[in-house]
Amino acid sequence: MKGRIPDHIVETVLSRVNIVEVVSEFIPLKRAGRNFRALCPFHQEKTPSFMVSTDKQIYHCFGCGAGGNVFNFLMQFERIEFPEAVEILAKKAGVVIPESLSYDTKESSGINAQLQKACETAASFYENNLSVPCGTQAREYLLKRGIPQEAIKAFRMGFAVEKWDALINHLRSKGINLSLMEKAGLVVPKEGGGYYDRFRNRIIFPILDVKARVIGFGARVLDKTLPKYINSPETPLYIKGKNLYGLWLSKDVIRDLDAAVVVEGYLDFISAFQQGVRNVVASSGTALTAEQARLIKRYTHNVVMVYDGDASGQIATIRALDIFIEEDMQVRVVSLPEGQDPDLFIRKNGIECFRALILKAQPLFDYKMSVLKSRYDAKEIEGKEKICSEMLSTIQKFRRPVVKSEYFKKLAQELKVKEEALLQEAKLFHTGGKERGLAASPAVVAQKSIHSVEQFLIKLMLEEDAIIAELKDKLEPDDFLDERTAKIVTLMFDCIAQGKGIEPSKLLTHLGDAEATRLLCESTFLPDINIENREKILADCVQRLKAKKLTFKRQCLQEEIKAAQEKGDEERLHKLIAEFDTLIKTRRGTG
Ligand code: UTP
Ligand code: MN
Repeated sequence: MKGRIPDHIVETVLSRVNIVEVVSEFIPLKRAGRNFRALCPFHQEKTPSFMVSTDKQIYHCFGCGAGGNVFNFLMQFERIEFPEAVEILAKKAGVVIPESLSYDTKESSGINAQLQKACETAASFYENNLSVPCGTQAREYLLKRGIPQEAIKAFRMGFAVEKWDALINHLRSKGINLSLMEKAGLVVPKEGGGYYDRFRNRIIFPILDVKARVIGFGARVLDKTLPKYINSPETPLYIKGKNLYGLWLSKDVIRDLDAAVVVEGYLDFISAFQQGVRNVVASSGTALTAEQARLIKRYTHNVVMVYDGDASGQIATIRALDIFIEEDMQVRVVSLPEGQDPDLFIRKNGIECFRALILKAQPLFDYKMSVLKSRYDAKEIEGKEKICSEMLSTIQKFRRPVVKSEYFKKLAQELKVKEEALLQEAKLFHTGGKERGLAASPAVVAQKSIHSVEQFLIKLMLEEDAIIAELKDKLEPDDFLDERTAKIVTLMFDCIAQGKGIEPSKLLTHLGDAEATRLLCESTFLPDINIENREKILADCVQRLKAKKLTFKRQCLQEEIKAAQEKGDEERLHKLIAEFDTLIKTRRGTG
């Protein structure tokens, strides 16, 4: 990223475009009182729950919770990043973004664009090699593997000849210099000076980003030589953990089918896609990252993993499961027969069998459980303990308490242990752990459902700036227990202090937190509140918030005291009890 687009530009754009006009370019809007209504473009529904407000310049879906200002809409609908959304709308509004900050110029003349041109030129060169005499051997290899001409073309496969300087010479003739070739990962420096081609005598699989721009390469030998693949190193363009092979071809199908099949290898992707299972992507043999999961999540929340049927495939699957869970995605698993990968399975059994396998994919719990049972003896205490701790580490990653508790139940049944024992184990497990999602600490409980008083106040503040100013004297953002409301209130207080207005659409550009955004949008669309006895009601709300905060602090302290008692930490215990006394006194003072 170059520089940030300054706030004043963002705000000018925001003030000049009308969200109703922008949204209606994409979906049909119907008037509904002061707002507009439509079928939500972000989830399947039969009755419209997607609302757009002219007054507030925001949208919100009461069905799926999607919401935001006009930038958020464009980002979500077109799957683009913030700067790009600002750029598009700036053009519409006739607002000029300084060249140095422009997303466009960054793309067309910066180093990335030059690297991209080098990669693109190399890809075309390799592609061409496949259709000339020097590519005969490679063509035969691909034929033998059952890869037809259309696939070669669609995936832009190519061939790197055996020479040390074939690519160098070609790129040089196209005016691309060596230092750029090196930065693009296409050539390797020699010890005594000079460079040589990185990929030689290998089949080339170009790696393209979601916008179908070549950013790197994978290259496979034609025989059993090791290493089987050589890949581009990381470059400013090609960051392995942020890319998935094949997504440029499959993203629309993934969105339409609302599911993605994740495989390991280039050739697994190619076999599946070319034969008709087209909602597929390949992680290219590296451990799946959270960023890759999020990349998939732009198109679907549902994933089926089909990794190789060997020990390393199993380990990689189990790791990836946790990542998908942490991203709040639904994941199921296909286990292939020992020693097979999707490509081999499809060649042996046909694509319909593969499809059937995907439909029958196991829930992640069952999959992980069966893997663990094959590793440890579930009848022995030691085995139980191992299985238990590994399953718990996954179960703890679920965000929803209901889901967690169901899995606790299931695990207890499977291992034939008492559920209470598991719950205790889970606590134990977590006191030393650094993972998030501590079971049932008050902080977590407080976050789950929004407290009605907190949302009521947010709604009031949205309606009238004067109320913000008034509350600013009486409350701290800290007095709001819900993290989301605390964030919104902090932002509102800041804006008021700086003499700025608090239009929701502007607030949203600074909020940058999905959950808080959702809450703010939802609150905006709640029916307006008419309060007659304003002074009294506000005072009452403040009072109730403060009381709740105190109760919360007391609960936290009590928990800490208990923990200190259990540990026998006398010094800490004294300190905590003293704190507790002071707290009780303040409570009397305010009560
Ligand atoms: P595989 O060994 O399963 O390869 O590695 P494959 O794609 O199925 O190829 P075939 O069918 O044996 O020809 C899976 C993925 O791991 C990465 C590649 O992305 C490969 O597609 N890999 C594997 C490497 O990067 N380097 C290697 O040496 C091996
Ligand atoms: Mn494989």
